[in-house]
Amino acid sequence: MSGLNTWINKRFPLDKMMKEHVTEYYASKNLNIWYAFGVLALVLFVNQIVTGIFLTMNYKPSAAEAFASVEYIMRDVEWGWLIRYMHSTGASLFFVVIYLHMFRAMMYGSYKAPRELVWIVGMVIYLVLMAEAFFGYLLPWGQMSYWGANVITELFGAIPVIGSDIVELVRGDFVISDVTLNRFFAFHVIALPLVLALLVVVHILALHEVGSNNPDGIEIKENKDANGNPVDGITFSPYFTSKDAVITIGFLIIFAAIIFFAPTFGGLFLEPANFEPANNLKTPEHIAPVWYFTPFYAILRAVPSKGLGALLMGLAILVLFFLPWLDKAQVKSVKYRGYYYKGALALFVISFVVLGYLGLQTPTPVGTLMSRIFSVIYFAFFLLMPIYTKLDKNKPVPERVTFEH
Ligand code: HEM
Repeated sequence: MSGLNTWINKRFPLDKMMKEHVTEYYASKNLNIWYAFGVLALVLFVNQIVTGIFLTMNYKPSAAEAFASVEYIMRDVEWGWLIRYMHSTGASLFFVVIYLHMFRAMMYGSYKAPRELVWIVGMVIYLVLMAEAFFGYLLPWGQMSYWGANVITELFGAIPVIGSDIVELVRGDFVISDVTLNRFFAFHVIALPLVLALLVVVHILALHEVGSNNPDGIEIKENKDANGNPVDGITFSPYFTSKDAVITIGFLIIFAAIIFFAPTFGGLFLEPANFEPANNLKTPEHIAPVWYFTPFYAILRAVPSKGLGALLMGLAILVLFFLPWLDKAQVKSVKYRGYYYKGALALFVISFVVLGYLGLQTPTPVGTLMSRIFSVIYFAFFLLMPIYTKLDKNKPVPERVTFEH
């Protein structure tokens, strides 16, 4: 084996890469459970690819056959139901994990220098992931697939002058049709997964270049021992590989419990209307996207003008890219920040959750008013950030990371 190892290493930097990214990658010793969501995202990414490959073996990407082929997978294909539920539940849990992963970065100021690029690549991943989920949702060709895709593609119509041409270009037809299904299938199974895989590699390389942040927001590379290793750092392997393994097992138990006992998750992960085949002559009474899009959908519906609503919805996502420059605080972690940031972050989370809830509901006058109020809070968090992060009374940050046994 050692002969083979030498042979490989003369031709490919295997040992060097393992050292740099695993066995000698130093991360702060106080990383907590919030730091496991990156690994869980990786686990889910692999789950989506593997189950996706098996689904593709029996799925038929045509308007005439798609719905029936999914039913065939659920009823007749050996273990087909399990593969499909792993994929549909995996999609929702992917977003749960990503939202927690992003929230961690906001809590500990991980987007701040020198990790701006890690954050920006992460945001591009988030955009591609949303597109990936959107394309995937059309494939079962159920009522919600069809009408959801209709509502969202129609939004491009709000673009002045060229709007209607763009809608036609995206759909490949005047309405959502077999042509649309075929192109969404191509994007969902090959184009976007390829892009995502590449982006994840760039994301991790960028992170390992600067090193992980930690719950204290202290740069551990600034305090090194005689060997040149951070005094507050421990190697990723075996310390964090073992910690991540335990957390992953715990996560897989929850994952399995949902698949076996609540695969539709009360209509949140698989919507009831999608158990009916697509019918272009029958609009469902209430069209709502899957839960992970609903905070933005609520912002869209809060505005009377469709054009302005679509613009604000886009801005609600884009504004996240600018966090590294909107945040003027000298400290990173929420642990050492003053009450302004702590309060603002709490309000932001509340607005995101409430908007998510409102986006799932049938519109009512009270709901619309609430959506408006919480949309304002959502945007205020970002737009006022340069002011309140500057005025905040932050606490002094210790020299070394804090660590309780
Ligand atoms: C497929 C999706 C993604 C995967 C597989 C992924 C993977 C990872 C991994 C393995 C880490 C290191 C472990 C950790 O800190 O949790 C990490 C760190 C990080 N990720 Fe992601 N990530 C993804 C999406 C995102 C998104 C959407 C964002 C933000 C918009 C983001 C922002 C960050 C940041 C800022 C860090 C550094 C955190 C720190 O050191 O405190 N990631 N990511």
